[in-house]
Amino acid sequence: MSQNKNERRMKGWLSKHLQHSNYWRFSLDDKTRKFLTLFSKKVYQPDCNLFDYDYSEMDLGPALPIIDQAVEETMQGGGLVVLDNLPRDELTEEEFGFLNWAIGLHVGVPRPQGKSSQYLAKVQDVGTNYRAASGRGFSSNAKLTFHTDGADISTLGCFNTAKSGGLSMITSSIAVWHQFVKERPDLADAAQDELYYFSRQQEEAADEGPFYGQKLFEECEGLIFGKWNWNRLRTAQDLDGVPKFSKKQNEILKCLGEIIQRSTHLHTMYLKPGDLQIMNNNTVFHSRSAYEDFAEADKKRLLYRLWIAPIRSPRLPESWKDFYREIEPNTVRGGIRGHQFDGMCQEFDDKHAHMKGMSLID
Ligand SMILES: [Fe+2]
Repeated sequence: MSQNKNERRMKGWLSKHLQHSNYWRFSLDDKTRKFLTLFSKKVYQPDCNLFDYDYSEMDLGPALPIIDQAVEETMQGGGLVVLDNLPRDELTEEEFGFLNWAIGLHVGVPRPQGKSSQYLAKVQDVGTNYRAASGRGFSSNAKLTFHTDGADISTLGCFNTAKSGGLSMITSSIAVWHQFVKERPDLADAAQDELYYFSRQQEEAADEGPFYGQKLFEECEGLIFGKWNWNRLRTAQDLDGVPKFSKKQNEILKCLGEIIQRSTHLHTMYLKPGDLQIMNNNTVFHSRSAYEDFAEADKKRLLYRLWIAPIRSPRLPESWKDFYREIEPNTVRGGIRGHQFDGMCQEFDDKHAHMKGMSLID
C-alpha cells in the first residue's frame, strides 16, 4: 500500500493511499506556532502594500524546514499536502493573510490571480455567478467543477470554515491518466495529441486572446503533466474561433470526468482554521462543494490563496506555453495578469525573480 515519493510522482495516488498514510500531513509544533505568531504581529503593517515588505524581514525561523519538506512533497511527490497548526486564533484576519504571503515569498514568486491582478486572493463568497462567461469560483459559494489553478503551486490558508459545505476534493491527475490509458487505450493518443481550448473568462491581458490551448495530458522529460478545467472548457465552446468538441473529444472528456470523481481516486477533506493546503496544479485536480455561510460577517468562510511559481520548478510541456508564457525550469511563469498588471507588479516580479535566482519572461 505504501508508496515512495518518486512513485507518487510517476504513478499518482489513490484515495486509499492518503487514507492509510500520513506522508502528506505536516504539522507545526506549538513552539513554531508561537514563533510565527510573534513574527506576524511584529512584521505586519496595516498600511503597508504587500509589495513593499522587505524579504530580508521574512524570517520564518523554525517553520522553514517543515515548509520546505511540504513543498518538496508537493513538487516531487504526490502534489498535495496539508500543513496544520498555523496560528489562527492568535492573529487577526489581516495578520493571518500576511503570514500566508510570507510563506508564499519563501516558496517562490507569487503570481497574479485574475482580472484585478491580485497577488493574494481572499477566497470568500461575494456573490459572483460562477457559471457566467466571466465567472470565477473563488468569489462564489457555488459547487465548483474540477480544475487546476493558474500556476504551478496553489496555497490555501484556512481562516474560517463555512456553516455547512465547502468540502475540498482532490484527485491525482497522474493516477487518472494511468487509469484512463488502462481502460481506454483506444482514446489515449487523441487525449495526448489534441489541443483543448479554455476560456480566459474575460480576464485576458491586452496581449492575450480570449482563450488558450493546452493538452489535457502531456509528457515532458519523462514526467506526465495534467490539465483540467471543466468550467473554462465549457465557456470556451461559446467563443468565436474555438472549435466545437469532436465526438471523440466528447468521449474523452466524459470518460476522464468520470474517473476524476470515482471514489477510488477522489480524496475529500474539510480544511479547518489554521490549515494550509498546498497543491501542485500539474499533478492534481481539485474542486469544492457548495457551501452556506454563517450570518455574521466575521464568521464567513475565508481562505487566503496564493498562486506561486516555485523555485527549482521543472520544465513544462510544450503546450503549457500558451497559458504559462514560459516553460523553462526555475522560471517565474503562470498566473493571470488580468487588467491591473502595472509597473509595480512588474517591479515586484523582477525583484523577487532576481532574489530567488529565477529567470523571468522578457
Ligand atoms: Fe481552484
